[in-house]
Amino acid sequence: VEIAVAAEDLELTGHEHYMRKEMLEQPDSAEAVIRGRLDERFGTARLDGLNLAPRELRGFRRVKILGCGSAYYVGQLGAQLLEELARVPADAEAASEFRYRNPVIEPDTLYVVVSQSGETADTAFAVQEVKRKGGQVVALVNVVGSTIAREVDGGIYLHAGPEIAVASTKALTNMAMAFAMLALLIGRVHDLSVADGKRIIDGLKAIPAQIREILGQEGEIAELAREIAGSQSAFYIGRVRGFPVAREGAQKLKEVSYIHAEAYQTSELKHAPLALIDESMPTVAIIPDDDLTDRNVAAAEQVLARKGPLVAITHPGVDLSHLGIRSIVVPRSEPELDPILLTIPTQLIAYHAALALGHDIDKPRNLAKSVTVE
Ligand code: G6P
Repeated sequence: VEIAVAAEDLELTGHEHYMRKEMLEQPDSAEAVIRGRLDERFGTARLDGLNLAPRELRGFRRVKILGCGSAYYVGQLGAQLLEELARVPADAEAASEFRYRNPVIEPDTLYVVVSQSGETADTAFAVQEVKRKGGQVVALVNVVGSTIAREVDGGIYLHAGPEIAVASTKALTNMAMAFAMLALLIGRVHDLSVADGKRIIDGLKAIPAQIREILGQEGEIAELAREIAGSQSAFYIGRVRGFPVAREGAQKLKEVSYIHAEAYQTSELKHAPLALIDESMPTVAIIPDDDLTDRNVAAAEQVLARKGPLVAITHPGVDLSHLGIRSIVVPRSEPELDPILLTIPTQLIAYHAALALGHDIDKPRNLAKSVTVE
């Protein structure tokens, strides 16, 4: 496969770090992943690379998503999108575990592997394990012609462009966008209505500009990040759609700032983490405008009552004024797509915390961009 890469894609073009360059590229890269793939007339997605006919897509009774690291967390978001839009049971598992547990491969399950590099050894091995047992496997991959891309039955290329920083940002956003399109396509061969399909399409089309809006708040987010940078440890909390956001947020902070961070379901806070909350333990709370807002606000109050510093990532219209905290307000999308936008501030928090601490942001210690060994 001939891969054309423009020289400027590989250069820092005036940026201090690739991670920042890649975060700022997201309005364009998110545009690229949906280009030519949204079918407005029928309210569905066109994903010809999957090589799956509608009849085959209808036949899958379950979807199993496999990936490592951040790709695994975005897989959890993908599973939620598939359940919400297509009403097909779906779950995500770490590919690094799946391959070692003699997994049951079901004929009516669609296996979806997700990988930026397409070279992660554990993920590639999971592909082989599924194929060897006769399962059907497709991939969401960024690097064209990579090992995983060559081995699967079909897939969706992410079109994020080259990603150099070890901590993934733009490729992750495109993974989430690709999962939304896959869920839309599978939803529309089942019971998702044309109107709902069009609603999701409009939501996806708005995302690039909405990401730009969030990136415009970098200054304020950096200030909050510098405060977090002074801590040894942090919690990221969210519920349901907000939980994969919390997991990815904690992952990113650990990767580049080396601050210990743990993600928890907000609902589980009272089942142990509250014991750790004090002035020295900041919490980043994902509080979208949804059915659970009141409960999320109540949890935030509990954190504050124990003097825990709190930063909320929230939506316009969520009234947190009585908490006396600073919040990062991101634009609303369609509810199913909200996590894509809620994740963007967590990238900026991690980056600016690492910057304040003076770390080697693009090449964190002990980590590799793609782990090609077992
Ligand atoms: C490494 C990187 C992570 C990445 C993971 C999966 O562990 O440090 O940032 O999420 O690999 O990489 P992939 O290329 O398969 O998406």
